[in-house]
Amino acid sequence: MHVSLMVAITVDGKIARDVDHFPDWTGKADKRLYVQVTKKAGVMIMGSTTFDTIGRVLPGRKTVVMTRNADRRSDREDLVFTQDPAEKVLDRLAGQGYTEAVVVGGAKINHLFAAKGLIDELILTVSPLAFGTGLSVFSDAVDLKLNLKEFRQLDENTLCLRYLVDR
Ligand SMILES: NC(=O)c1ccc[n+]([C@@H]2O[C@H](COP(=O)([O-])OP(=O)(O)OC[C@H]3O[C@@H](n4cnc5c(N)ncnc54)[C@H](OP(=O)(O)O)[C@@H]3O)[C@@H](O)[C@H]2O)c1
Repeated sequence: MHVSLMVAITVDGKIARDVDHFPDWTGKADKRLYVQVTKKAGVMIMGSTTFDTIGRVLPGRKTVVMTRNADRRSDREDLVFTQDPAEKVLDRLAGQGYTEAVVVGGAKINHLFAAKGLIDELILTVSPLAFGTGLSVFSDAVDLKLNLKEFRQLDENTLCLRYLVDR
């Protein structure tokens, strides 16, 4: 199972001004790439705060929502709420035939997967903005060593950086 962490950042490494910040600042090029990467994998994994911020299921791929709230349930095939640990979530997806998964935030869920050494690749899109304060890519300490795989200009102002995690 190849696990990517995909995140849109400002030039000062922020992913949002605060937990309620709707991600409408990242631009069309980022959104296009997000759709392309997540649809290719077929599944994305996110925290419940991110899911609630987006406020709907994005079509054409499965959404796995990490939550500790056992009351959160779904009767849709493309939406799963889970209380399972990260490793078990990935094992279950592998058992369902997925070979790739994309972790798509937020900071807490990024940290959860990265701290356990479960991320193979980082896909960052850098938007031409700075927030100064706000949420960083990871909510807590991580120790990742990375190898640059690709850098690409997505449009006039947006960069995509891909790194493989050294592990
Ligand atoms: N720029 C970007 O690319 C990007 C991407 C995604 C999100 N964001 C932004 O990030 C912000 C949200 O980030 P966040 O760090 O506050 O929240 P988050 O990572 O999206 O979700 C955190 C929530 O997930 C649940 N959770 C935490 N640990 C868990 C575990 N071990 N197992 C199961 N569930 C667990 C908890 O909610 P329960 O109460 O449900 O248990 C927790 O409050 C929003 O502003 C969003 O717009 C930005």
